Amino acid sequence: MRIDIITVLPELLESPFAASIMKRAVEKGLVEVHMHNLRDYTDKSYNQVDDYQFGGGAGMVLMIEPIDKCISQLKSERDYDEVIYMTPDGETLNQRMANGLSLLNNVIILCGHYKGVDQRVRDAFITREISIGDYVLSGGELGAAILCDAVIRLIPGVLNNETSALTDTFQDDLLAPPVYTRPSEYKGMKVPDILLSGNFPKIEKWREDQAQKRTEKLRPDLLK
Ligand code: ADE
Repeated sequence: MRIDIITVLPELLESPFAASIMKRAVEKGLVEVHMHNLRDYTDKSYNQVDDYQFGGGAGMVLMIEPIDKCISQLKSERDYDEVIYMTPDGETLNQRMANGLSLLNNVIILCGHYKGVDQRVRDAFITREISIGDYVLSGGELGAAILCDAVIRLIPGVLNNETSALTDTFQDDLLAPPVYTRPSEYKGMKVPDILLSGNFPKIEKWREDQAQKRTEKLRPDLLK
């Protein structure tokens, strides 16, 4: 999978890709992530990429021209499955969307800033608008990092068996069952006997029951 991220703040996106699973996915060659600084695509003085909104109102708006130049350049090099815009008024990210996106080959992610982008960018270039939740961030970069993390870990080969995504919370619309590790007793708090029994069919059944009960208690909306 190839991900091209268009941003005015590439430095904000360096560390998420420099550690842990996303770093390993890049090193294994399973994903390529390319940052594009929007300021490299403007002819204006001071590398200006934003301007006041027509009609008045507080806040700057990212201009269409540098975004057009960047996206058109990328599209002239390869086909893209989706051009995603990170915005609080997009579809809210969930595990099902992440599963679908993990199957794509080439994706562009545009990070909004200030008051957002000129609406004509959304009308002309964007195929999908994604929010990471009902709150407003200063820009789309951290949302893009979260989206990439959720998607990249699902690409076949990124996680090994021990960390398999198949048992994650939200797969099958259930929360994950509780997990325990050594010691089997700590300050009088015991690990459930069943997990120490070695009876794997029974353990599996217990985990399924726990996942169901936890979901009913904490997130009944998932069961609807
Ligand atoms: N940009 C600003 N707020 C955002 C959000 N909640 N999700 C995605 N991108 C954003």
